[in-house]
This record gives sequence, C-alpha cells and structure tokens, in this order.
Amino acid sequence: MLTIALPKGRIAEETLDIFERTFGQRFLFEDRKLILKTDAFTFLLVRNQDVPAYVLHQAADLGVVGLDVLKEKEMDLMQLLDLGIGRCRVCIGMKNEDELDLSRPEITVATKMEKITREYFSSKAMAVNVIKLYGSIELAPLVGLADAIVDIVETGTTMKQNGLKVVETIMHSSAHLIANKNSFISKKEEILTVYKKISDNIKA
Ligand code: PRP
Repeated sequence: MLTIALPKGRIAEETLDIFERTFGQRFLFEDRKLILKTDAFTFLLVRNQDVPAYVLHQAADLGVVGLDVLKEKEMDLMQLLDLGIGRCRVCIGMKNEDELDLSRPEITVATKMEKITREYFSSKAMAVNVIKLYGSIELAPLVGLADAIVDIVETGTTMKQNGLKVVETIMHSSAHLIANKNSFISKKEEILTVYKKISDNIKA
C-alpha cells in the first residue's frame, strides 16, 4: 500500500486522472475529505508547499509537486518522474515601463519564493532585499512595495492585466512524482511498478 500526497486543486485532479487512466479505476475524493483510501493507494490532499514535508517525514511515500516548490524547499527527496502537468515558469516581473538593470547595486523583490530569488540575484552578484508575500504578488510593484517580483507565470494573464511584463525566466517547472528515500528502499518494488505503469501511460 502506497500513500501519495497530492497538492489540492487542479494538479490533484489531473494526477488522479492519470492514475485512473493507468490503473483503470475511479479515484474520487468525497466532498471535503482529505483522505481517499483504496485497495492499492491512500491519497492525501495537502497544500502545494506542504507536499515535500509530508513526503520527507514519511507521512506519505510519494508526492506530486512542482519543481519550483522542490527547489524552494531544498529537501532531500527523490525526483522520480515528470508528470507533464502543471507546466509553468518562475519569472522576474516588472512594470511595463521598467527595465531590469543588473548593474544596479541593489533591488527590492517581492515573492513567495525567497530561496529561488536570493539564489538568482546572488548568481548575478546583485544585492537583493526580499519582501516575503503569500499571494497577489503582482500588486507589489504597482504600489511601490518592490521594484520587481519573482512569481509563477502560467498563461501570463495576471501579469498582463496588471501592467507587468516578464523580464527574465529563472526556471521552468512542471509537476513531478517524488519519493522519500526510506520508502523508496522499503517499498522499492511497489514504487517501481507504479513508476513504470505511469510513465508508460504518459508516453502512450
Ligand atoms: C499564481 C501566481 C500568479 C498566477 C499566474 O497565483 O502567483 O499570480 O498564478 O498565473 P497566470 O500566468 O496564468 O496568470 P495563484 O493562483 O497560485 O494565487 P496566489 O499566488 O495569489 O496565491
């Protein structure tokens, strides 16, 4: 029996679709329930950013999470398979009339992704003042809270509708199946069977 942590919302739905197609079985959470138990799997519904913690601490054997979250959390987890869903980019956004000047001594950036932001600007030898926010990041440059943002861009609509543009793409992301090392060792056969079936199904 494998326990799999899924990020609430569209990625969970799309992952369950993949599992349904792969295993020929219906996987549906009842109303507000956060646990779905079936013969072969137990699925957990958690917040996107919490998936790595559930997997790392072995409350789940496997998880589904974006590469952006994995990079931000920097936890010792195994990346098994790109599920090809939840594709997005982590980008630097600025007001349409502004430009990113990497020769400036310092920049103020609003973001949910502190680590990715610090790492990027440090690689450019630029001092960064990070303002940690939890949502509606695009608002920050509009009201003078920050010079720029580092945020997820999927369709680009949110930035566009708020008079922002992408000035740099830091990384591409998509949802990956991850595992913790202990589960991978103790449940290796089960995990590899699931891995193989899903990767064959995705390729087909
Ligand atoms: C994410 C991200 C952007 C938006 C980008 O926000 O932070 O705001 O999606 O999508 P788009 O390029 O398709 O417009 P989310 O919906 O997760 O909300 P939050 O960041 O405000 O929590």
